[in-house]
Amino acid sequence: MNILSTVPTNSSSRELTEKIIESLETAHQQESNTIRVKHSPKYLTSQWYTGYGEITHGDDYRSFEISATFTLKGEVKVVDGVFSFSNRILADLYQSRGRCVAIVDQTVNELYGESLQAYFKHHSIPLETLALRAWEADKTTDTVYEILKFLGKDGSDVSRNEPVLVVGGGVLSDVAGLACALQHRRTPYVMVGTTVVSAIDAGPSPRTCVNGQLFKNSMGAYHPPVLTLVDRSFFRTLSKGHIRNGMAEAIKMGVTDDINLFELLEQYGPQLVETHFGTINCDEELGKIADEIIYKALYSYMKHEGTNMFETYQDRPHAYGHTWSPRYEPSAKLMHGHAVTIGMTFGATLSHKLGWLSAEDRDRIINLCRSLGLSVYHPILEDFDLMMEGQKNMRRKRGDGGLWAPLPKGTIGACDYAQDVSIELLKEAVAEHKAVCSKFPDGGAGQEMYLKDLGLE
Ligand SMILES: NC(=O)c1ccc[n+]([C@@H]2O[C@H](COP(=O)([O-])OP(=O)(O)OC[C@H]3O[C@@H](n4cnc5c(N)ncnc54)[C@H](O)[C@@H]3O)[C@@H](O)[C@H]2O)c1
Repeated sequence: MNILSTVPTNSSSRELTEKIIESLETAHQQESNTIRVKHSPKYLTSQWYTGYGEITHGDDYRSFEISATFTLKGEVKVVDGVFSFSNRILADLYQSRGRCVAIVDQTVNELYGESLQAYFKHHSIPLETLALRAWEADKTTDTVYEILKFLGKDGSDVSRNEPVLVVGGGVLSDVAGLACALQHRRTPYVMVGTTVVSAIDAGPSPRTCVNGQLFKNSMGAYHPPVLTLVDRSFFRTLSKGHIRNGMAEAIKMGVTDDINLFELLEQYGPQLVETHFGTINCDEELGKIADEIIYKALYSYMKHEGTNMFETYQDRPHAYGHTWSPRYEPSAKLMHGHAVTIGMTFGATLSHKLGWLSAEDRDRIINLCRSLGLSVYHPILEDFDLMMEGQKNMRRKRGDGGLWAPLPKGTIGACDYAQDVSIELLKEAVAEHKAVCSKFPDGGAGQEMYLKDLGLE
């Protein structure tokens, strides 16, 4: 059946349909009254985003249904010397646009601002920079607004086809990513992660956000970078506390998805903390292992997160350790990685209690975290009102279809999802976890586990 034969002659809807069909690469009438609208690339707003839609009209021409897809192709690259003159990735990206608009973490700007300026100067690309403080205390809508003023009409007036360069840690990637999501309703950005957390997790993540009053990361938008560049040479200047903190995100992927990664972390994790991921006092061999661990952690994370960018589905292994922590992390003023390892090791004990994991594997997970100086227990787990509140919030966040708490199951490197954790089970599992951790002289505390950001002391 020809679609046009179903539309009244001389009507505007007929003209519209003709026009659509003209501009289509492929438009086909299906069994029903549906056409697929695939726009020609010549009409693209921005090179970064594509998609197509379908529209189905009702027989009476008084209603229709629509659906649309949105396709984003992201790239993640592990690179050496992102600001080395010979590394042309950023130069090639920004040369054709005639400038680069950048948002840079203030501390990173103090340390690497000159290299950044020199790089763009060398390639004759004008650089417009906003350097701002991005501590946990700054994950607010005020910071997002400040960035928006810089990106908007009264500032650099970025185009929708001009990827903003974001250089910094996980806090900056969250707030600047959110500002980019809001600017023109969606402006692309390129992420250069300068902490372990932003390099292997927050940086390429689609989940941009600010903190709510009680819950971490509770307001935001799904807006991943179009390109993430991971250069571990930045870790040379990162404090050991932040290196250790970032290890948590690699451990979570090892436990839930990749036993090989887990074993590499068991073998080399402590050395990587000591040498800032092979950037200080180490041989070339360890540097290669550092790259391998970074790549494996990123691949495993993006295999799940990057292919389910809008959290359309709840089979999300990378949420391991993140079920109760968004509520207790800000209350206990913990660093993110420590909050996550407390959640992960508690999860391992809960998994053992459910009969999903052997005591040996539970202890392996706890021992790996301990060997890196990460926390495995905190008394805040015994605040059951707070824990249940966290659980209730997480159920709602995950769509009210269950708790969807990822836990290791069967073996390290695989996971399943706990849907119901009653208050009784929660209390028993916390008691068991406390007993397991009480064999450590410090009761399971980590090194430098608390946030030092001003305003959160
Ligand atoms: N969106 C996500 O999916 C996601 C995932 C994981 C974590 N996060 C968020 O990330 C945040 C934690 O990120 P983070 O650990 O990177 O902390 P951060 O961004 O606060 O950075 C840590 C500190 O290191 C400084 N710094 C950054 N790079 C440096 C460098 N190369 N040398 C020296 N100092 C440097 C920063 O100025 C800051 O003081 C948390 O708010 C967490 O919720 C988000």
